[in-house]
Amino acid sequence: MSIISARSLTRRYRQGQTEIKAVNNANMEVAQGEFVAIVGSSGSGKTTLLNLIGCIDRPTAGTIIVDGVDVTETENAKKLPVIRRQKIGHIFQDYNLLPILTAKENIAMPALLDSRKVDDSHLLSLANLLGIKDRLDHLPSELSGGQKQRVAIARALINHPAILLADEPTGNLDKKSADEIMELLKEINRQGKTILLVTHNEKFADICNRKIRIEDGNLTA
Ligand SMILES: Nc1ncnc2c1ncn2[C@@H]1O[C@H](COP(=O)(O)OP(=O)(O)OP(=O)(O)O)[C@@H](O)[C@H]1O
Ligand SMILES: [Mg+2]
Repeated sequence: MSIISARSLTRRYRQGQTEIKAVNNANMEVAQGEFVAIVGSSGSGKTTLLNLIGCIDRPTAGTIIVDGVDVTETENAKKLPVIRRQKIGHIFQDYNLLPILTAKENIAMPALLDSRKVDDSHLLSLANLLGIKDRLDHLPSELSGGQKQRVAIARALINHPAILLADEPTGNLDKKSADEIMELLKEINRQGKTILLVTHNEKFADICNRKIRIEDGNLTA
């Protein structure tokens, strides 16, 4: 069974008189445990596709099923923030950490938002895996780019999500830090997590199990 299943997925943007089909009638299946690269030129629709799967954006048409839940069904709309926090880990090029919270507080935030007690041993094991155990009491402004992304990855994994979405997670990093983050994503995938990685780095895309190409909103294998 697919962990992500998108059918006839379409997202159109209207800009004045013109209409942009950022994602056009896309069909896509991702199996549990896959590490899939999404590649394509700038403006081709990669972020739009990821944001639809990640429930940040809503499609103009079509359906997406994530881990057995139709996230596009209208009756699920109100529950979407909760579904999103429980099923989806999402990391971004610019980390999106809250600047006034420490690394540890940032990591704990998705659990706290659902009024759930933070699983401290899980938090610590993530910090260990990601090599940020001694940075947990620091503010984001006191961390390097690579460390910030490690914190963001820990935050994305704190709720044991079904899938991890990564939108150019190494885009702001130097080569060494980028390679390290890619190694960590590989390890997280080896431990069983399904990952969708948007990247402009062909070498990283080649490491993944499979590449999905998108051009002008159209998916090709
Ligand atoms: N909120 C929006 N309103 C109008 N048009 C948008 C909006 N968001 C994206 N677009 C348009 O949709 C298309 C796809 O954008 P998207 O951000 O998905 O591209 P991308 O593949 O992620 O590009 P990049 O590699 O530069 O990040 C582009 O033509 C973009 O201008
Ligand atoms: Mg993008």
